[in-house]
Amino acid sequence: CMMREISGINEMEHRLKSLLNLHEIVIVPGNSDESPWVKEELGRATASSMKRRLKGNTTIAVTGGSTMASVAEMLTPDLTSSETLFVPARGGIGEDVKNQANTICSKMAEHTKSRHRVLYVPDQVSKEVYKSFLKEPMIKEVLTMIKSANMVLHGIGDAITMAERRKTSEADYQKIIDGQAVGESFGYYFNEEGEVVHKVPTIGLQLEDLSHIEHVIAVAGGSSKAKAIRSYMKSAPSSTVLITDEGAAKALLKG
Ligand code: G3H
Repeated sequence: CMMREISGINEMEHRLKSLLNLHEIVIVPGNSDESPWVKEELGRATASSMKRRLKGNTTIAVTGGSTMASVAEMLTPDLTSSETLFVPARGGIGEDVKNQANTICSKMAEHTKSRHRVLYVPDQVSKEVYKSFLKEPMIKEVLTMIKSANMVLHGIGDAITMAERRKTSEADYQKIIDGQAVGESFGYYFNEEGEVVHKVPTIGLQLEDLSHIEHVIAVAGGSSKAKAIRSYMKSAPSSTVLITDEGAAKALLKG
């Protein structure tokens, strides 16, 4: 469209796509650090990207966070005419209820008139309890659904912001600091080289599972997330589609 050409967004998309080695990129105008409505635009752009990709019955695995919550708000019943199932990508990683993947999945299902499943993984239990918990048929069933997802939607966060927002133990926090983590996604913390320096231990999708998933859509905006996006993209599967905003894009291109 004209607006995008005038503001140079098309050119930015082109440059960032090759810089980050992405399958596809969408940049929405604005900076979500400064204007809250930009997160709604990220949500809208994600919804239309999902729509283009959804063919046939789909299981969509979703992570938590405020960006994913905005995506949920923008989904509508015309997303797809096929069967869709929303599942949380991974078990509890210490977020507040409103930012949890379970909550977001149920919102997405409600807005699209489709189904969802939840995965309740206790955050603080002994190893023995955790092990017996994994033997529960209900848990096993949801885990099988997660592993068979053909689309993943996930956020990317600034490492320190995420470590502070979540229930992170003193020891893990120190590990994140010592490892010089800058980015976080799925409960994995990455340094500037894109190496994992800490991982929140939980069940569900693991980073290595992503390369087998047909559609991987990462949604993250705001200039404060530029470092995080760059670090995560160093190890992200090449099939990743990035939905971001001008704020993050400009900061990324500045290097
Ligand atoms: O893993 C990344 C975080 O979930 C991103 O959270 O969307 O609230 O910044 P946010």
